[in-house]
Amino acid sequence: MQRLDKLLSEAGVASRKDLKAMIRAGRVSVDGVTAKSPEQKVDETAAQVFVDGAPVGKQRAILLMLHKPAGFVTSTDDPRDRTVMELIPEQYRYLRPKPVGRLDKDTEGLLLFTNDGQLAHRILSPKKQVFKCYYAEHEGQATEDDVAAFQAGIILKDGDVCLPAVLTPQGQGRSLVEICEGKYHQVRRMMASRGMHVNYLKRISEAGLELGDLPVGCVREVEVSELDL
Ligand code: URA
Repeated sequence: MQRLDKLLSEAGVASRKDLKAMIRAGRVSVDGVTAKSPEQKVDETAAQVFVDGAPVGKQRAILLMLHKPAGFVTSTDDPRDRTVMELIPEQYRYLRPKPVGRLDKDTEGLLLFTNDGQLAHRILSPKKQVFKCYYAEHEGQATEDDVAAFQAGIILKDGDVCLPAVLTPQGQGRSLVEICEGKYHQVRRMMASRGMHVNYLKRISEAGLELGDLPVGCVREVEVSELDL
């Protein structure tokens, strides 16, 4: 048995606070009887729960895009640092979105969140060849040899081999890097392997989705149809 408000918030109907008001307003019924209290116990395996006459089903899937600022770690919990979860607006938290992959503490830019595990897998799996594009400021100047090395598959200093990637020089000390996997510190390590230490890194697109003019620290809801998967 489970509390009615807990069952409804886990199904993604609304936040616990809003649910209290909805139940008190008589908008929720359990097995044909109007519910009176958020604390009411229901059998989550058998109860027929309706909100505004519509059956409550699986949790609503959600996809969010954050413009991550530097200084936040991609983790749901951290004893020292501020986490990206702090930047998720209250209105989405009850849906329990999780980061899709990670950005380093110092990296800025586009970070997706979802509560749909299958969708996260489709975006992240290197086999699916979903590209992420980064803008990097670095030491030195990328050359045609560097471009060819990225295309052939960079071998990192620890011997790990990267899938083919696209390096596009943007002038002295600036490049775009497109990769379809997410190894630890991958872009920084790929650039370092070619003697170009990265000083600034920002993810500007992922799965065809662009950061655009979303302000730093802000979140917007994204439709799955906006993704190029
Ligand atoms: N590559 C990196 O080195 N850092 C990131 O945050 C993302 C990709």
